[in-house]
Amino acid sequence: MDTESPSSPDNPLIIQGGMGIGVSNWVLARAVSMSGQLGVVSGTAIDTVIVRRLQDGDVGGHVRTAIEQFPIPGVGESAIRRYFLPDGRPNAAPYKMLPMQKQVVSAARQQLIMLASFVEVWLAKHGHDRPVGINLLTKVQMPNLATLYGAMLAGVDFVLMGAGIPREIPGALDAFAEHRPASLKFDVAGLSAGETESLTFDPRLHFPNASTPLSRPRFLAIVSAHSLATTLARKANGRVDGFIIEGPTAGGHNAPPRGELSLNNLGEPIYGERDVVDLEKVRELGLPFWIAGGVGSPEGLRAARAAGAAGIQVGTLFAYCSESGLAADIKARVLSGVRANGVRILTDPRASPTGYPFKLVEVDGLDSQDERRVRVCDLGYLRTPYRAASGKLGYRCPAEPVDAYVAKGGDVADTVGRRCLCNGLAANIGQPQRRSDGDEKPLVTSGDDLVSLGGFLGGRERYSSTEVIEYLLSQTGASIAGPAV
Ligand SMILES: Cc1cc2nc3c(=O)[nH]c(=O)nc-3n(C[C@H](O)[C@H](O)[C@H](O)COP(=O)(O)O)c2cc1C
Repeated sequence: MDTESPSSPDNPLIIQGGMGIGVSNWVLARAVSMSGQLGVVSGTAIDTVIVRRLQDGDVGGHVRTAIEQFPIPGVGESAIRRYFLPDGRPNAAPYKMLPMQKQVVSAARQQLIMLASFVEVWLAKHGHDRPVGINLLTKVQMPNLATLYGAMLAGVDFVLMGAGIPREIPGALDAFAEHRPASLKFDVAGLSAGETESLTFDPRLHFPNASTPLSRPRFLAIVSAHSLATTLARKANGRVDGFIIEGPTAGGHNAPPRGELSLNNLGEPIYGERDVVDLEKVRELGLPFWIAGGVGSPEGLRAARAAGAAGIQVGTLFAYCSESGLAADIKARVLSGVRANGVRILTDPRASPTGYPFKLVEVDGLDSQDERRVRVCDLGYLRTPYRAASGKLGYRCPAEPVDAYVAKGGDVADTVGRRCLCNGLAANIGQPQRRSDGDEKPLVTSGDDLVSLGGFLGGRERYSSTEVIEYLLSQTGASIAGPAV
């Protein structure tokens, strides 16, 4: 194989892709990093994930152990006081909720986000010295700065962000390394010409005694077009260290096709020639890159290396391994569907409130969220801000109750077919909110490769992340790392 770009902890052959909410948790990321590749925790909605772990009794005590290491006094104690239930929720009562994000929130709310991302990264890094990354969605703007600072307090080594254009993130990482404030342009609908809004996070308000600089993580932008890679390499407000080039077969959200949207007979977006990334143009940028989407195989790794990539980013194969955060019953159901050739992947252009196509797993016996769900918006990560007639900022989500969305100036057409990703994805990891009519139902996502996972699975009912890595490396001559301490 092509060995021109050598692999190293900073240039791994395999990146285990970030998978939200809580699918790529600290257990998975730690296992992957300890095997010598790059493990990545998901930082999306990590505050809710952590307070729900506390309310479910924090089995094993991991969250509380990490909380003890948080350097800002009082924050962890207050989270434990408010959310920790030693015996779990009584009679599976509903989870206690966090206040939803807004442009400006209380210091305590910001600190909870910092604490949560600190906990997840600290746990993933605990007991070894190999790099760990965190993944965030650019479009989920409001919690991102506090999440990044919390992750940096835990020494995160890589930040990987897509789903939007993360132009201002590299500069924010530079600022946070020196505990300086950082701002992002806040995307608000309905601003008048020339008007701008921003999101600001100032570490010194929370951690006035911070003196030692933090190490600045490497920043990898996840993109689906070489033009975007070029723009980021030239115009980001700080250093971009590499790219993940993600194609439309990848699990989770996909970039929409370029040009006018046309759909196949299943209602899925049709991708064409214009969506193929020109890797020659990416190579010319001179930065390392990894290919993602449908390349989770030894052949995929080989082809990526031959094309000049440092390696591959893989999601789907890792999502179903024993260490991932997906609920055990969902894993078992989907894997048995795979063995019976009974799974389908639908790329749904409407489901996600973000407006990006989102891949949904369909398998017999998996009771997924559908249009019968009684709409309620109480997690609110995908709410978008708008300028209300009163002049204030309001927040709306096309998956919230239709009347409320329309009353906030939203177009009723935007609400059609939308799913509540926030509650669906929380249900995927065994943290469904309890409603009067039962638990929230899951919304499982995977890449197109799920249907062919049977070849890797063989007769097994389960597999570990180490087995995934051994399989992916099997044509390279590289091997699993020795003990990492
Ligand atoms: C369950 C699941 C959740 C995902 N969530 C995210 C996410 O939160 N952020 C992100 O950037 N990518 C997300 N992805 C994409 C992966 O990080 C990765 O790029 C992709 O899965 C690679 O393609 P593959 O699925 O064919 O292996 C997700 C993928 C899966 C399967």
